[in-house]
Amino acid sequence: MTRPEQQADRRDRATSRLIAGAFAISALGAVGFAVGYVTGGQTQLAGATLAVAFAGLAVGLAIWARKLLPTGGYVEEHEPFASPPAQRRLAAADLTGSGSPIRRRGLLGALALALGALGVAALFPLRSLLPVGSRRPDRALRDSPWAAGVRLVTAEGRPVRPDDVTDDSVLPVFPEGHPRSGDGPAFAVRLDPARYAVRPPAGDLAGLVVHSLLCTHAGCPVALYLKGTGRMLCPCHQSAFDLLAGARPVAGPAARALPGLPVEVGPDGFLRATGDFTAPPGAGFWSRQ
Ligand code: FES
Repeated sequence: MTRPEQQADRRDRATSRLIAGAFAISALGAVGFAVGYVTGGQTQLAGATLAVAFAGLAVGLAIWARKLLPTGGYVEEHEPFASPPAQRRLAAADLTGSGSPIRRRGLLGALALALGALGVAALFPLRSLLPVGSRRPDRALRDSPWAAGVRLVTAEGRPVRPDDVTDDSVLPVFPEGHPRSGDGPAFAVRLDPARYAVRPPAGDLAGLVVHSLLCTHAGCPVALYLKGTGRMLCPCHQSAFDLLAGARPVAGPAARALPGLPVEVGPDGFLRATGDFTAPPGAGFWSRQ
């Protein structure tokens, strides 16, 4: 082999290694995406790993096309004719034989690995559409972590006794074990039972009622209590809910009452739920059902 041929040979081998490395990085990105999805689905991490997967694939294919595939214009200056069989055999051996510096099989294998890993990783998000596990995706918007026997706890995780809810004041409460759940926040309030014009949707315990904290308009926390009026106010778009009239909206864009939570006093003296909210908590999608 002449010196220029040796240099070209070395160049092709280095390029092949570079392409295989890019495909390997793509495969790692796809595996990272799948692992990230299974272990919690952090959105930024999913985006970054997918970007790595596609970038590795793009870089590998671009280098392959630019460095290893024939380029340039071709001019046919004579009538087409077939090469002699011996010459064709030689050309084929040149391209595919063991002496060729271009490991096409290896590169195709690496490309198949990258595409295969990406294809498998793309199947993982389908989990969000399938009824697998206890909290079915098709019910995830309807159910909350509240269920019979789940105790009410404060933001600090302390179980709540009926006496913790004082007259005409609001106490934010959460389902025990699910302090950060998006649809679990609720509030407990105690009003004079004689003032209820409409029976609370989930009943009351000597005037004590519990409702979802999420506004039924767009899901903001209904965080303001207008003391003495029995009304809760949402600061986002000023919806007001009358707790003395079944927590129905009396002002603002909300069209649906705040769902109630049925509660009782457990044998340990703490408040606990006897079921889920009386209606799906949160935004007004449900009002169009
Ligand atoms: S989110 Fe409460 S009024 Fe709009």
